[in-house]
Amino acid sequence: MFKNHRRRWLGAGIVLLFAAAVSSGCSLLSSSGDSQENKAITIGFSQVGAESDWRTANSISIKETFTEKKGYDLIFLDAQQKQENQVRAIRSFIQQDVDYIVLAPVIETGWDTVLKEAKSVGIPVIIVDRMVDVTDESLYAAWVGTDFRLQGEKACEWLKAYADKQGMTGLNIVNIQGTLGATAQIERTSALEAAADRYGWNILEQQPGEYTQARGREVMEGMLGKYGDIDVVYCENDNEAFGALEAIEAAGKTAGPDGDMIVISFDAVRDGLWDVINGKIALDVECNPMHGPKVEQIIMRMEEGKKPAKYTYVKEGLFSMDDSIESVKVGENEYKVKKVTEDLINSRPY
Ligand code: AHR
Repeated sequence: MFKNHRRRWLGAGIVLLFAAAVSSGCSLLSSSGDSQENKAITIGFSQVGAESDWRTANSISIKETFTEKKGYDLIFLDAQQKQENQVRAIRSFIQQDVDYIVLAPVIETGWDTVLKEAKSVGIPVIIVDRMVDVTDESLYAAWVGTDFRLQGEKACEWLKAYADKQGMTGLNIVNIQGTLGATAQIERTSALEAAADRYGWNILEQQPGEYTQARGREVMEGMLGKYGDIDVVYCENDNEAFGALEAIEAAGKTAGPDGDMIVISFDAVRDGLWDVINGKIALDVECNPMHGPKVEQIIMRMEEGKKPAKYTYVKEGLFSMDDSIESVKVGENEYKVKKVTEDLINSRPY
């Protein structure tokens, strides 16, 4: 049984105590002693790392949500992109008997054993961002994140519409992938591969860029050295795109509508959108990192003894250098494409 079922009684106690305090004119918060009702909710959060601007924004969202002031005790551990560090972090959270474990998994597989350990001691696990591939879905209470496959499909439909409009045919594409085995990589890559099959595009090469600027640059340098006819660089996040742009410029080439190639990216963090304004990134598909408030809603629900929604998706947009393509259709749904302006960038939280 999950541990928060024990906490349910505490919740009911708080309501009774609150009623008593209000009727006697006392404040609960100023009550003396170390009474249970003021006990912080302890959350152990295992973050992937700090590989990208997106990741930094995601960490900030969690830290700004689970503050001491609001009654939380957040234990934040950075796994430096290593699954073994995340497994160790989860075990340390179990030892510390936290109330909730929040896990942003680096890759999908390899979680069964440690999540079973958390379940056996009744600590609920909430997954954020990427998915876990486990045999038993009851090993996690809820998941918050994005539809990475849909992101990839939106990018490819935009590319198809843009290429048709520009009269570009027989596209030669290089793909700088994310960390292999991460949901963001699996789904963005597979969306590209499916579109390439459908539209007859030529994927010259695919290589992981680990979601970092440094690796994105290295991979792009290698690709530029091998191919003289690249039309499209499909980067699986903004930091890889920043690195790829450095390599393109260092090679004396240009990215943009009138340049040698166009760059497509994911995340739409602030610096990514500045590169969209100047056309260096032609399309940036948003990946919304603001998971903190959604995770808090889940925890609040569990604190009330209620079952949370198993899957919660965040909202996301599509940002382009121009307004030549107003919307893209994926399945039955139409998604608006926004032209990036300075005002738009300044109005965004990340
Ligand atoms: O899992 C989300 C991806 O991970 C983001 O696109 C990337 O920037 C991050 O590091």
